[in-house]
Amino acid sequence: WPVIAPYVDEILRLKKERNAVILAHNYQTRDIFHCVSDIVGDSLALAVKAKEVDADVMVVCGVHFMAETAKLLNPSKKVLIPDPEAGCSLAESITGADVRKLKADNPGVPVCTYVNTSAEVKAEVDICCTSANAKKIVESLGSDKVLLIPDEFLAQNVAKTTDVEILTWAGRCEVHELYKKEDIEQIKKDHPECVVLAHPECPPDVLDAADFSGSTTGMADFVKEKKPELVALITECSMSDNIRADCPDSEFIMSCSMCPHMKKITLQKIVDCLRDLSNEVHVDEAMAEPARASIEAMIAAS
Ligand code: 13P
Ligand code: SF4
Repeated sequence: WPVIAPYVDEILRLKKERNAVILAHNYQTRDIFHCVSDIVGDSLALAVKAKEVDADVMVVCGVHFMAETAKLLNPSKKVLIPDPEAGCSLAESITGADVRKLKADNPGVPVCTYVNTSAEVKAEVDICCTSANAKKIVESLGSDKVLLIPDEFLAQNVAKTTDVEILTWAGRCEVHELYKKEDIEQIKKDHPECVVLAHPECPPDVLDAADFSGSTTGMADFVKEKKPELVALITECSMSDNIRADCPDSEFIMSCSMCPHMKKITLQKIVDCLRDLSNEVHVDEAMAEPARASIEAMIAAS
């Protein structure tokens, strides 16, 4: 605390001065998540809440697509990201031109993109989804075939739960693809009582070996409600740190993988961007309208 207190004090002061709010994803470090944030959650919650923000400035502590989504949904606000280099391997895996080619190769097939993509990709599709609502969104399209891009594991995991035929793309989350089903089997062998929760960006056999799968907030809610004595969260490292405070009855096995992009956001960079109003996120107007429509379609359908 003595180390972070000056940063926290300065951020709280600057938030007032700038009439700013801080939105933080569940993968942000504990200092950001617990000490300076106003709104926390998974990608869906951050998008829905960003739309309702009344303050002049939003600082999005997460990766770039999350800040872009906030800007798309609340365009009159100044949206800042403490480090614009905070990317995502899924967002990097596909371009707008790739989506146009997919559509040409699959005429009439509706296209749903995971929100972990650029505005350029969102502008090309019918609807977005997150890990919290992917099955519901796919089924809402009323088609027997859907392109669900760009995360092949999320697509395969959704395909196991629906009669809709799912076509996909070869994108992967560099954090969740590292998990193997043997990791889960080893946890279960060492701790038979351990409840294992896995994010749907993990490979399908990892989810098969786990007890529950859900978005980051879905996993947090599961632990808060069920209060298992021992839990393993098969996802990014900060998840366990962040929900521990609300889950005093549960002990956490650390079996996590770090997202280098999420970890680019620091208290110092939040101070800098609030002080200088730097790293503002802009979206080209021509692509903003169709990209916004695909996110709004998701919010309406979920
Ligand atoms: P959630 O929508 O579940 O928070 O996931 C976002 C993400 O980037 C997970 O890697
Ligand atoms: Fe992207 Fe994976 Fe990091 Fe989430 S954890 S932001 S999907 S690279």
